[in-house]
Amino acid sequence: MGRVLEARGIWKVYETSATRVEALRDVSVEINEGEMVAVMGPSGCGKTTLLNCLSGLDEVTLGEVLVEDVSIFEGDDALRTKVRREQLGFIFQSFNLIPVLTALENVEIPLQLNSAEPNSKKIREKALSALEKVGLKNWASHKPAELSGGQQQRVTIARAYVHEPGLLLADEPTGNLDTETGNKILDLLVELNRELKITMLIVTHDVRVSKRCSRILEMRDGRIFRDSKNFTEEE
Ligand SMILES: Nc1ncnc2c1ncn2[C@@H]1O[C@H](COP(=O)(O)OP(=O)(O)OP(=O)(O)O)[C@@H](O)[C@H]1O
Ligand SMILES: [Mg+2]
Repeated sequence: MGRVLEARGIWKVYETSATRVEALRDVSVEINEGEMVAVMGPSGCGKTTLLNCLSGLDEVTLGEVLVEDVSIFEGDDALRTKVRREQLGFIFQSFNLIPVLTALENVEIPLQLNSAEPNSKKIREKALSALEKVGLKNWASHKPAELSGGQQQRVTIARAYVHEPGLLLADEPTGNLDTETGNKILDLLVELNRELKITMLIVTHDVRVSKRCSRILEMRDGRIFRDSKNFTEEE
């Protein structure tokens, strides 16, 4: 199995004149192709900080992050932006869709950012097929405000994987959804992992989510204190 991502001894310290927070303390982890990994732990233990550092959105204080063997902090912001655009997909709790664009236009963005021909028919078709995959083919021309929370989260999922990233990072993807809608979103993520072999790292408080993952990282006080294969995972 190929390695998609590796963190080596990363630290993240937030320091002001009055306070010092060690949000990540010597975290090392490897994520392999095809895994669906849950990151769990109490509020404030460093889960979001970990995702932000792994994706280069936040700079580590110390340590190294390799995405597909590229050491992202050895390069500049431009390198990290390129890695994010090409290799990573993001799903946030708050959807983060662009309100003035339609569902389809939102999904086209990652393809456009990676293309010399941002208005090509190919891009439109690919985005539409991603929307179809998440069950929203007939909602392509709707703006986010005209969609339910669950539908908006489906759009963000389509947007997150449309450019076929090596790794999909999700921060509480079911956090803002009711139980039933959250379950459907979870089914969709599992399906993308199993069928399209999309590797995922999912921050979650939700035991239903972690139960469906192949591996669970448990964090506490800025450290991963347990890294376990999930043997209860149903096949
Ligand atoms: N920009 C920042 N400046 C200072 N401290 C920060 C910053 N971002 C996060 N922290 C601190 O780092 C620690 C980890 O925060 P983080 O957001 O990663 O937690 P979390 O595990 O995602 O929590 P939650 O489950 O509530 O989302 C917390 O103590 C937080 O207060
Ligand atoms: Mg968080």
